[in-house]
Amino acid sequence: QSYEMTPHEQNTVLLASNRGPVTFTLAEDGELIVRRGGGGLVSGLSNVAAGADAPPGMLWICSALSDGDRRAVRLSPGGRVDRSGYETGPLRMLDIPPATFHRAYNAIANSTLWFVHHLLYNTPNSPRFDGLFRREWESYRAYNETFAAALAEEAAPGARVMVQDYHLTLVPGMLRATRPDLRVSHFSHTPWAPPDYFSLLPGDIGAEVLSGVLGADHAGFLAERWASAFMDCCESQLGAKVDRACRTVTHDGRTTRVGVHPLGVDGHELWVRASEPDVESHVAALRAQTGDRQVIVRIDRTELSKNIVRGLMAYREFLAGHPEWHGRVVHLAFAYPSRHDLPEYREYTAAVQRYAKEIEDEFGTDDWDPLVLNVDDDYARSLAAYRIADVLLVNPIRDGMNLVAKEGPILSPRAALVLSREAGAAAELGGDALLVNPYDVSGTADALHAALVMPEAERMARAVRLSAAATALPPRKWFADQLTALSG
Ligand code: G6P
Repeated sequence: QSYEMTPHEQNTVLLASNRGPVTFTLAEDGELIVRRGGGGLVSGLSNVAAGADAPPGMLWICSALSDGDRRAVRLSPGGRVDRSGYETGPLRMLDIPPATFHRAYNAIANSTLWFVHHLLYNTPNSPRFDGLFRREWESYRAYNETFAAALAEEAAPGARVMVQDYHLTLVPGMLRATRPDLRVSHFSHTPWAPPDYFSLLPGDIGAEVLSGVLGADHAGFLAERWASAFMDCCESQLGAKVDRACRTVTHDGRTTRVGVHPLGVDGHELWVRASEPDVESHVAALRAQTGDRQVIVRIDRTELSKNIVRGLMAYREFLAGHPEWHGRVVHLAFAYPSRHDLPEYREYTAAVQRYAKEIEDEFGTDDWDPLVLNVDDDYARSLAAYRIADVLLVNPIRDGMNLVAKEGPILSPRAALVLSREAGAAAELGGDALLVNPYDVSGTADALHAALVMPEAERMARAVRLSAAATALPPRKWFADQLTALSG
């Protein structure tokens, strides 16, 4: 039987995230130019949940983030920018009032929830939950309500809804109240804080976050550790009943299943991209810069959790302790700007640059640059850096997964991986990486040395196994698993 479906009936799979698969910029003549969105979540999901490969019935709902996005929304009926001929895949952007958006995104999502889950609070006066925080929390709630209302309006009866990340923790609970027919999942792309740290949040706020996520039928995490921490928080803060063997949490008469889905990389896709001419020419340029020296690579956003300064300290300690390596090694550190609306991030970027300069001044000579710090974002050049790496340094204080640790071994078949034990990726890669405590600068310096002197045959054998682990759950399969988790 065939009949004309209304848009509402067509939307059987919905995905909600703050950042969408594309963003619009305004050209000088006022034309809108569409570009691919950035960030870990989006780059993992774009190829499977947007564009031509999206499953039938898919609608992605995201925030309008740029002036171009807001313009695109205004030009599009109901915010459905896909109907305006931009070939974005089915996409609706929500034009949230700027002040509400700013408080929800910068003050709550990025300065509060991100800080809690990454254990980043470390000054006597931070965090501080005061009247201003309460107003910001109201905005976070309003922002979540806007998403929940759009999803409730768009979703077909019984549709599956996949809510992404810490920006949208309240959405599952809100949808449960208005659309109990929907099957809803929430996925955290970050770590989850252990109860002692999570309880830094005022009790009612922590409970609101936990109950919000528990509005979902399925709560997904990148690693067992984060799933356990979430269950521990539900137990200690909400008094929920947790069954660890079956991975379920029962609260308020409902049961939420908890799942672990360690997102990986599509190795073939990555290789194809990394073999394109723009990457080849960056490989040649970087080789010209490094010569035949050993190359230590790191690639990060300049993000507080990435621990770039301690990584540089470790390199400095390694150089100080091993003069035999002077002139024989180069550290390529790519640290792209991130979240510069927040003063902490601007200060951190400055600290990274200051520290890098000190290393250059202390060790550099006329014919040897021990460190090359690059702060401009260039994906092709990052791929080229992986390809020439002998050692890859990934030392976050804490990280949900860390895809650099997974992409590196795929593209650098003879690189040793020095990896923080606090990255979610350590659960899968720990056996073949050199694991470090990210706070232990001397330990990290020793690991850099051990990686450099590791025989090439051993590095290569490890890289083969690392690469196999990194590709075990590519985005396509990860996405399919999320959907299956909602099918039961
Ligand atoms: C990283 C995190 C994701 C998060 C994203 C947000 O990729 O792993 O969990 O959603 O950052 O970044 P943004 O640039 O949108 O603030």
